[in-house]
Amino acid sequence: MAYLFGVDYYPEHWPRERWRKDAEMMREMGISIVRMAEFSWAKWEPREGEFHFEDLDEVIEILAEQGIDCILGTPSAAPPAWIIRKNPEIQPIDQNGHRRAFGGRHHDCQSNPVYRAHIRRFVTAFAEHFGKNPHVVGWQIDNELGNSHGDLCFCPHCEARFRAWLAEKYGTIAELNRRWGTAFWSQDYASFEEIESPKLTVTGHNPSQQLDWMRFCSDLILEFHQFQADILRAAAPEKFITQNMMGFSDKFDYHKLGEQLDFASHDQYPGGHFRPVQGVFNGDRMAAEVDYIRSTMGKPCWIMEQQSGITGWEILGRAPKPGQLGLWATQCIAHGADTVVFFRWRTCTVGTEQYWHGILPHNGVPGRYYREIRAFMEQNRELLADLQGAMPGKAAAILFSYDQLYAMKIQPHHPELTYIDHLASYYDALYRRNIPVDFVFEEQDFSAYPVLIAPLQFLMTPALAKKLHDYAAGGGTLVLDFRSGVKDADNIAYSEGALPCLVDDLCGITVTEYDCLRDCMGRVNWDGVSYDCRWWSDLMELTTAEAIASYDWEFYKGTPAITRNRFGRGTVYYVGVGMTAPLADRFVDELVRQDGLRPLMDTPEGVEVAHREKDGLRWYFVLNHTGERQAPAIPAAWQQVYGEADRTLPPYSAAVYQESIE
Ligand code: GLA
Ligand code: ZN
Repeated sequence: MAYLFGVDYYPEHWPRERWRKDAEMMREMGISIVRMAEFSWAKWEPREGEFHFEDLDEVIEILAEQGIDCILGTPSAAPPAWIIRKNPEIQPIDQNGHRRAFGGRHHDCQSNPVYRAHIRRFVTAFAEHFGKNPHVVGWQIDNELGNSHGDLCFCPHCEARFRAWLAEKYGTIAELNRRWGTAFWSQDYASFEEIESPKLTVTGHNPSQQLDWMRFCSDLILEFHQFQADILRAAAPEKFITQNMMGFSDKFDYHKLGEQLDFASHDQYPGGHFRPVQGVFNGDRMAAEVDYIRSTMGKPCWIMEQQSGITGWEILGRAPKPGQLGLWATQCIAHGADTVVFFRWRTCTVGTEQYWHGILPHNGVPGRYYREIRAFMEQNRELLADLQGAMPGKAAAILFSYDQLYAMKIQPHHPELTYIDHLASYYDALYRRNIPVDFVFEEQDFSAYPVLIAPLQFLMTPALAKKLHDYAAGGGTLVLDFRSGVKDADNIAYSEGALPCLVDDLCGITVTEYDCLRDCMGRVNWDGVSYDCRWWSDLMELTTAEAIASYDWEFYKGTPAITRNRFGRGTVYYVGVGMTAPLADRFVDELVRQDGLRPLMDTPEGVEVAHREKDGLRWYFVLNHTGERQAPAIPAAWQQVYGEADRTLPPYSAAVYQESIE
């Protein structure tokens, strides 16, 4: 039987007398899975080698009596004080060379062999003990791997591993010198021993070194995960392993992590206090993150932490409006979640997260959040059971690459240009037209997708160039844009050929010059309408392409800004600018008109439609993210699964429809 709804539960924060009541309330609410234990090392091993799993055994038993199973997290994101006291050297070193202290979480170095030994001891005992328990059905390794590791760790162990990683990759130091271009600023190395982790220096680091450092950090986290996964799988091969990922978080390669997981999970906090703009409609980014996590493994995912109330640590976000908690959770289902686990059961009275609200408030008495989440579960239970395994149907594809992301992070070109925001400018425009999106990765087959958007293909390898040529030649519609084909995989600029290197013939253009739109917006004219553009302008000459939009300002006024080229049986667009929303909308309109992209339906602003399908059935989720009642024109053929009889949508609500597609 599938698990549909769950909660993250921290029984160690509450008196044991409360555990039974919690379990009964969970069952009564319709919860069948609980995630626990991922931060409680000190409780289960208060002194080295002295394991006390009795309390956790008891909680698991109490939950099991209510028909609730559990997922246990390994607690390696929070090594206890006694480990730190014994082995202070396991604390991580930041880019400034400072050791980070005990007191929060993630105060550990993931390559440190002493820390690995502590983890091996604990996880082995944990896995052997709970591996036998039939009510423990799966594991989560650590928690949000990569979280808080932004400028960690630069310690001698990480450095040594970096050197070994480089030696393996390059073979000889001469090869590394050549491929890193160390002739610049006298950075030649005589041996791998001379290479350090890129700690704070006086100016910027060598971009080739930085790219390898980011790849290395990603590989280290993957290996850290594998290290624990091996222990868990040896002890309990039948239990699943998942990881609670963070959408577009970039510290390591989620797609590669998929090779180690049974399924992907995601943590979804639409109103999290860390979101840049509070309380505004941001359905697009939330949808994109779930689409992304689903795409990492190409199958439905779980939400391991779904927002259950107002969020906050030292400062708080906005209160979710009536309906929003259920709407946001429904949005996750719409984009491919098979299970939704809410974070957290009850708001904590202690510690850093005292204001990160749970389903229950501090006093444990059910209130609005409880009622709304319960109503969401009741409304979606049957539907979600039917949906298990269903995926979105025909979609547009956006090519995602950590290498491109890292390279753009090292050299953003424009202070406001980020890889993710740039991808989002396409995603959001597709989202506004209710065109479903899959993210795809370089080694995948693109041919099933009518449209492939490949933004910022900054590092162009011959293999990637060939795939893009083949895709277009075979009839695909390909979108490439500025800063494509600038460098090779070593982050070295191409010294031969015309920009965009290796794909100039595919695009039918050459880029002869460019302008970085610092502190200004550019303008583009498309069929007589003028649009703002941002970040960048490529100045180009056409070889075989035609201009479909041209610049409307500056010394390059009248020259091509966006082009279209016929290539083989396909079409290749080249977008020389960063698009503002109106321009991106116009561009997607072009794809709809010319290239057969099909919106699921037209909706008023703030209302989205997403779909999933399976066994000849398609479900449409119509989601009203606005504070107004909305009346989108729902096609008559769609049969209502739930919603208002008159097919209107109250503020912050969802309706679901179904259609046979056989
Ligand atoms: C993250 C973590 C949780 C918790 C929540 C709320 O998503 O995974 O442990 O810290 O945020 O802050
Ligand atoms: Zn380290």
